Amino acid sequence: MDFNLSREQLLVRKMMAEFTEKEVKPIAAETDRTCQYPKETIEKLFDLGVMGLGVPKEYGGQGGDAIAGAIVIEELAKACASTADIVAAHNGLCCDPILKFGTEEQKQKYLPMLTRGHKVGAFALTEPNAGSDASKGQTEVVDAGDHYVMNGSKIFITNGYVAEVFVVFAMTDKSKGTKGITAFIVESSDPGFSVGKHEEKMGLHGAPTAEIVFQDCIIPKDRMLGKEGKGFSIAMQTLDGGRIGIAAQGLGIAEGALQEAINYTKSREQFGRPISKFQNTQFTLADMELGCEAGRLLTYQAAALKQAGQRFTKEAAMAKLFTSEHAMKTTTKVVQMFGGYGYTKDYPVERMMRDAKITEIYEGTSEVQRIVISANMGL
Ligand code: CAA
Repeated sequence: MDFNLSREQLLVRKMMAEFTEKEVKPIAAETDRTCQYPKETIEKLFDLGVMGLGVPKEYGGQGGDAIAGAIVIEELAKACASTADIVAAHNGLCCDPILKFGTEEQKQKYLPMLTRGHKVGAFALTEPNAGSDASKGQTEVVDAGDHYVMNGSKIFITNGYVAEVFVVFAMTDKSKGTKGITAFIVESSDPGFSVGKHEEKMGLHGAPTAEIVFQDCIIPKDRMLGKEGKGFSIAMQTLDGGRIGIAAQGLGIAEGALQEAINYTKSREQFGRPISKFQNTQFTLADMELGCEAGRLLTYQAAALKQAGQRFTKEAAMAKLFTSEHAMKTTTKVVQMFGGYGYTKDYPVERMMRDAKITEIYEGTSEVQRIVISANMGL
């Protein structure tokens, strides 16, 4: 087993660490305060080839591997979980399924748009009554001869009000349960597509989360993604990959918070010495470091299996479950270490704590990850 990163992966780490320090960290607090989508940063990430990193060069991407993809999210999340989320949804939930399940024509049309074309992508599965029970969506598609007509709505869609390309899951045959769900590529310019409510959230304020609505939405015949009735399987396989992204996001948030804690406890003096010299602080920081290391190994393991074309459903769920819970525990303890200062906006740690919470919820709650893990244990 080789635990060393490749030269390319190390270069991606260096490039993203520098980019994050220079372009992301300085505006992270303002992005959070104003709830502004960090458009300029995302444009620069397109220029850098990070948006659609895993897309092969022939379709406009960089052909980056899955571990490099995780490193990108991890580095961004150290400073700004919102930016990491926008990239994770674009790469893992939109580019990936089009690459994996698209026809050659769909790949040639959409992947260059999602890379060189600077168009942001999104994934639309969740509905008001279909969250964890993802197969119970009511959005419906009927075949109208020379086009499809879609009706329904989706909620909590990351990139919802900035994306131009959506991978959408809808019922093509309600009588067939999960076998009646089909995936489609929908463009925001399709007639009958609109953006509904913009969500106001606890954290992740820079990530544009919205409802999207399909009202007699006209979708051309060549937009079915994969075969009819295969949508649920496509959604689940896509989420397997997406969960590596959220694992990397949780990992990055925990690492970022730990670094803040190290810096603070070394400079903050109480009772005549830096608080980093107290054993209670040291043991707490040691546990945080241990969790980051374990989370990193789980995340990169899942990514390596994905890259090798092996099944990674359980490993992605374990990585996501572990790092998201570690991010929540770490950020909560770091706020505590900062005392009163931790509760103010003078330091980034209260934002990190608010941002960490969503990693335990989206792309499958911690409870869903436990369902997935136990379902893959041969019980
Ligand atoms: N890969 C391939 N196929 C899979 C699969 C996987 N990982 N998981 C399940 N399937 C297949 C099963 O093999 C089964 O196929 P057959 O019928 O042919 O046997 C079929 O799918 C149904 O499987 P289950 O009976 O296990 O399905 P279920 O209805 O019990 O659901 C679940 C299982 C794990 C709870 C699933 O519903 C789930 O993951 N829920 C959470 C959904 C989720 O993560 N939502 C997040 C949305 S995206 C988001 O939050 C971010 C954003 O930007 C909007």
